[in-house]
Amino acid sequence: MLDGLSTCVLWLDRDGAVLHLNEPAEDLFGIGRNHAAGRSIRDLVRANTELEGVIARARAAGAQYSRRELPFESGPAAPARCIDVTVTPFDAPGQPGGVLVEIADVTQHQRILRENALLTQLGGSRAMVRQLAHEIKNPLGGLRGAAQLLERQLKDPTLHEYTAVIIAEADRLAALVDALLGPGQPPRKEPANIHEIVQHVGHLLAAEAPSGVVIERDYDPSLPRLRLDRNQIIQALLNLGRNAIQAVGQRGRIVLRTRALTNASIGSRRYRVVACIQVEDDGPGVPVDLKDTVFYPLVTGRPGGTGLGLAVAQDLIGRHDGLIEFDSRPGRTVFTLLLPFDSNELGETA
Ligand SMILES: Nc1ncnc2c1ncn2[C@@H]1O[C@H](COP(=O)(O)OP(=O)(O)OP(=O)(O)O)[C@@H](O)[C@H]1O
Ligand SMILES: [Mg+2]
Repeated sequence: MLDGLSTCVLWLDRDGAVLHLNEPAEDLFGIGRNHAAGRSIRDLVRANTELEGVIARARAAGAQYSRRELPFESGPAAPARCIDVTVTPFDAPGQPGGVLVEIADVTQHQRILRENALLTQLGGSRAMVRQLAHEIKNPLGGLRGAAQLLERQLKDPTLHEYTAVIIAEADRLAALVDALLGPGQPPRKEPANIHEIVQHVGHLLAAEAPSGVVIERDYDPSLPRLRLDRNQIIQALLNLGRNAIQAVGQRGRIVLRTRALTNASIGSRRYRVVACIQVEDDGPGVPVDLKDTVFYPLVTGRPGGTGLGLAVAQDLIGRHDGLIEFDSRPGRTVFTLLLPFDSNELGETA
């Protein structure tokens, strides 16, 4: 009966050994109940010391104890999850007693909340940046024109060096402003084979990457065709791929992966199928102090970086009703691009 629940349930004896676990708990801990029975909870939770601490506290106090939004790692290669835990000690006549551990996997719920917050924040910052970019662009044209006029009037050619600096810097700023304003035109969507696009990006990246960087491909061939603007998706993927190359340096491994995700959500919208394209690298990871702001324009952790790559990529994917998210820790960074297939929206999530 417990197997039908969506919550994980573990029953531990007074000494903390597993008496029983339901099917969702088998999945979460990656262990069958026959293997788990009799083992100490410490063996099961492994690196999840916070979870172990909650259980130990409830057992010591003999009282119910709950914690929300604990990080949970199911393995070194698996993405981090987020769980709510309630531990209830109990003593029933005629029963061995012990504690009942209930774990709800709230990763998906947290992801939806985070994505919605991200989409709202990005919308606000994009509007502000666009306005600022427009304000800069107009006087910039005047500045450049005046420098050119001045140059023609200058008798001493050695002074041309100075007007050249003004013109070059005005051009550099204009290019930056154009990038900030993003591609002007809406996407021109046409049916496309996503693997052909990823393959093309793979070739471009391989040509740019140092020889010690290996670019691997891991495709899900069942992915149907998508309607999208090929150039815009190539640009977005290139921006992610270039970041990965810069992150790994002279040696490293980059994986371009495609998957079809069923019953997936993008922000608060649910779809029957979405295309998932990942760029994974084994570099040092996104700097911790940038984790909340990497998608903002002008946020960079690289000397010489403009901090526009991810902002532009997010904008391009947003124009396709998609989203870019990431999961990063030292040695494994995955940027995931989610794109909905046309007309398979299921509606809003709760
Ligand atoms: N794969 C990655 N691994 C580690 N850090 C990353 C990765 N991708 C992005 N970052 C961090 O996020 C920052 C912002 O990336 P973004 O592409 O927006 O700008 P940039 O690469 O600094 O400059 P630009 O792309 O405009 O030349 C990077 O400077 C880097 O610190
Ligand atoms: Mg970049």
